[in-house]
Amino acid sequence: MNKVQLLPKSLPKAIRWEDNKLYLLDQTRLPAEVVFEQQKDEKQVWQSIRQLKVRGAPAIGIAAAYGLCVALEPFKDADISDYKSKSLAFADYLGDARPTAVNLRWAMDRLKEMVVQTDLADTSQLHQQLIQEAEKIHAEDIVLCLGMARNGLPLIKPGMGILTHCNAGSLATSELGTATAPMYLAHQNGIPFKVYADETRPLLQGARLTSWELQQAGIDVTLITDNMAAHLMSQGLVDMVITGTDRVAANGDVANKIGTLGVAILAKHFSIPFYVACPSSTIDLNSATGEDIPIEEREAGEVTTFAGVSTAPEGIQVRNPAFDVTPNNLVSGLITEKGLITAPYREKLADMFG
Ligand code: MRU
Repeated sequence: MNKVQLLPKSLPKAIRWEDNKLYLLDQTRLPAEVVFEQQKDEKQVWQSIRQLKVRGAPAIGIAAAYGLCVALEPFKDADISDYKSKSLAFADYLGDARPTAVNLRWAMDRLKEMVVQTDLADTSQLHQQLIQEAEKIHAEDIVLCLGMARNGLPLIKPGMGILTHCNAGSLATSELGTATAPMYLAHQNGIPFKVYADETRPLLQGARLTSWELQQAGIDVTLITDNMAAHLMSQGLVDMVITGTDRVAANGDVANKIGTLGVAILAKHFSIPFYVACPSSTIDLNSATGEDIPIEEREAGEVTTFAGVSTAPEGIQVRNPAFDVTPNNLVSGLITEKGLITAPYREKLADMFG
């Protein structure tokens, strides 16, 4: 399979690493403007992750891995023990930019482990090794997405309506996305299907990002607001749901963008299969159940404004959890790079990813 053919040339990559420089596509400006920002230091990378300039579980892990290398660049000729302590501190700092997607911590822990385990006494060699590891994390993600594309493909039958929530697409990963990976492959294989993209309040990842990237790929995509999903399901327009995830607990509970739980409950009500695409980098066997997954709470302004215009009374109390947890009994299957996993999840996840 030629992965390059699966995505339109017009679709920009979320992350570019060129000549040891990190460029992130500012996704907060999409689809109106395509702007790349060079990342100069750890503070800028932290802000880019926190502000969702780069977002989506795999993408923030990759961005942080390169970001750590950017942060360490000024110290690449420093004393090795200084370099090591800086790298551990920067990795913890970047790893705290957002709490829910496990990929961020996973990527930072992977680089930290390398620093802790190394026998190298030469700082610049260690620095090169960290860059190579960040490149490896990036390259591996491309392969993980391809694996999910292959394993999710058999689920897509001609004429299906598929609903997705948030953006688990190319913009959230290295290349094919997670939830979108089987869609890109099915489209290339000439299978006709329709995608319904939930708008995804409050930050509109579905409207701004998913519908944008699928439209560019020539996939039949229809944008709906979040509160329209039940109606479409009741009309028999949705045959399957595929979402991405930010963290899968050891028992198969799944954290994803706020609103996913509602979609899963609706799918159960209408007997529609609900699948979650997840690469191994998003599986966290250290979280026993969904209750162990930290849920990010974001600023009130994201709820009280729309496109910069105030839409709520001043001083109103607001809750803004960015994610929710869908219990494993609502999940029809996990589309992983190693295959489609169905319940019971705990044993299978432990066997395959332990
Ligand atoms: O807040 P975001 O935009 O980072 O949330 C992203 C999601 O919830 C995605 O569905 C998830 O990260 C999977 S991305 C392949």
